[in-house]
Amino acid sequence: MTPLELALSCPKAELHLHIEGSLEPELAFELAARNGIRLPYADIAALRAAYDFEDLQSFLDLYYACADVLRTEEDFRDLMLAYLRRARADNIVHAEIMFDPQTHTARGIPFATVLAGLEQGAEIARREWGMSTRLIMSFLRHLSEEECMRTLDEALPFIERIHAFGLDSSELGHPPAKFARLFARCAALGKPLVAHAGEEGPPAYIFEALDILKVARIDHGVRASEDPALLERLAREEIPLTVCPLSNVRLCVFDDMRQHSLPALLAQGLCVTLNSDDPAYFGGYLGNNIRAVQEAFDFDAATWRTLMANSFRASFVSEAERAVWL
Ligand code: HPA
Ligand code: ZN
Repeated sequence: MTPLELALSCPKAELHLHIEGSLEPELAFELAARNGIRLPYADIAALRAAYDFEDLQSFLDLYYACADVLRTEEDFRDLMLAYLRRARADNIVHAEIMFDPQTHTARGIPFATVLAGLEQGAEIARREWGMSTRLIMSFLRHLSEEECMRTLDEALPFIERIHAFGLDSSELGHPPAKFARLFARCAALGKPLVAHAGEEGPPAYIFEALDILKVARIDHGVRASEDPALLERLAREEIPLTVCPLSNVRLCVFDDMRQHSLPALLAQGLCVTLNSDDPAYFGGYLGNNIRAVQEAFDFDAATWRTLMANSFRASFVSEAERAVWL
């Protein structure tokens, strides 16, 4: 078996996945028709042609626009099920999935509708395919902390059904410190915390996510490679990074895959995991990320074994649950 075959075939977890970012153009048009909505694109090809991003913001503008087709519980169920079906084809057995309630509640979709639909999809995948999932409720950092506090208030009746909290959307100009009080409240609820940091933002944002927000893992974190002291700390404290290689290239964080900091992060002994972020928009699911990384770096089998073991090590499942897969 080649190292690539090993990487593709072994059971794995995905820890950085925005469910709204798994909305394929085909499903977007299907849901638009079902809900009587007109997307501002003539057809699937025209929408796909718009996937030409120059930075995070240019992607987010399209990502939020497409989310408008998600209206009913069935829509969220179908979205979740489509992602999990595709994830299963990549031998993903466990997924920790982010959702952005504010993207939906701002359009008048009740929090309960979003959550119930996502849970229905996850439940079907559990029953049919034995897949395990956790939901991470993510706050949109371009909004104010007060707005996020109100969203947290809205989530409280459903708090047992939310596993963890996260922070995403436009990073530059919205440092983690902006959400110190919000994350203190989330921590007091006894939930694990994650935050996007060091995707477009500087290493200082990663320090803030650790020191001020007290996150258990960093989403992206690829700019950590610019700061030796930060690398040393991430290694010492065994803070996982959920790296999304195709996303970083598509959003021009790196000019091409060969420039990616992944090998440097691995060389420092960091707990790096590979993930697809927004697979419908960035050229593929986890398997496509693995192929692209292997083409650029030609990792050996031991490196792939480490990366795949890291995906479980960095997850929020217990040792006992993990033992089933390892
Ligand atoms: N970064 C920040 N926010 C996001 C992303 C991302 O990669 N994907 C969806 N929301
Ligand atoms: Zn992300």
